[in-house]
Amino acid sequence: MAGARASAPGKVILFGEHAVVYGEPAVAVALSLRTEVTVREAGDQHRVNGQPLAPYHHAYIKDAIENLWKGGPPLDVRTDSRVPSASGLGSSAALSVATTAALLQLQGQLGEERCAREAYAAEVSAQRGRGSPTDTSTVTHGHAVLVDKEKGPGFLWDIQRGERRWYLHHIDIPPLTLVIGNSLQRGRTMDEVAKVGRFVKKTGFAREVIRDLGKISRQAVELIQDREKLALGVAMDEAHDLLTILGVSTPKLDDLCNAARQHAYGAKLTGSGGGGSMIALTDEPEACAAAIAKRGGHPLVVQLGGPGVSASTL
Ligand code: PMV
Repeated sequence: MAGARASAPGKVILFGEHAVVYGEPAVAVALSLRTEVTVREAGDQHRVNGQPLAPYHHAYIKDAIENLWKGGPPLDVRTDSRVPSASGLGSSAALSVATTAALLQLQGQLGEERCAREAYAAEVSAQRGRGSPTDTSTVTHGHAVLVDKEKGPGFLWDIQRGERRWYLHHIDIPPLTLVIGNSLQRGRTMDEVAKVGRFVKKTGFAREVIRDLGKISRQAVELIQDREKLALGVAMDEAHDLLTILGVSTPKLDDLCNAARQHAYGAKLTGSGGGGSMIALTDEPEACAAAIAKRGGHPLVVQLGGPGVSASTL
C-alpha cells in the first residue's frame, strides 16, 4: 500500500497578528514542537485515527483531501501532534501543512511553495475565507518569515486571496529565548479575526490601530536582526496594548503578560488571542516561566527558528 509521512512545526507570531490580515507586515517563527501526519491508501472510506473522516471535526484534513486527493482511493490518516490546540501556536496550520505535504509526497509533487499554497487553500476553506497565509507559510518554510505587502530581500513566494496579496520572505533570526505562556483558555482564530473585521469595518479608529501595529512590526524586523532586546521588549508591550484595544486580549492574557514582565524585556499575546498564548522575551527563562505558572498559565521555554516541513515515502 502506498503511503507517506510528513512533519511540520508549530509557530509563534512575534509581531503583526491581525494587522497582517489587512496588509500590514508580520514576523512569525517556527517552533521545535511538531505535528506528524501519516497517510496510507487503505480501507473502504477515509479514516482519521481509526474513525471515519468527520467533515466538521476533521475540517483541515477534509479540505486538504478535497483539494489534493479528489476521487483518489480511501486513505487511512494518522495524526500525532505536540503542538497544543487552539492555543495560538499554529496547531491548525501544522496539521494542514503536514497533511498537505504527506498528500503531495504520495503523488511525488512535494515542493515548499506548492505546499504553502495548497495548505493555505485548505485553511481558507476550513476557516471560511478569512485570514492571511502567515501561519501556513511559516510552518512550511520554518526558520523565521516576514510577511509584507511588497517584495523584498529573502523573497520566497507570494500568495493572493481576493484583492489582497501577501509577499513571504525568509529572514535570519539570531538565537533568542522566548517563554510561551498558554492561558489554557481556548481561542478561535476564525471568531477573533471576524470580530476585528467588524471593528475595522465600523471605525477609522480601528484602522488606525491596525496601521500602528504595522509600524511596530516594521521597526521590530530591524530590532530582531540587531538583537536589540530592550527595544524589542518595549515594542512587544506596545503591540500587546494595541491588540487589547482591538478587543482580542483577555484578562488572563493581560495577567500573564504582567506577571512575565517582572522577569522579561517585554510580553504580548501571540496569534489570534481570545484565549490562547502570550510570549515573553527574557534572559531569565526559569524565573519568567515560574511567574507565568504562579498565575495559572502553562509555561514553555523555547528557542526560535527550527526547520519547516519535511516528508518521506513509506
Ligand atoms: O492561528 P493563530 O491563532 O496563530 O492566529 C493567526 C493570526 C491572525 O493574524 C490573527 C490571523 C491570520 O490569518 O493572519
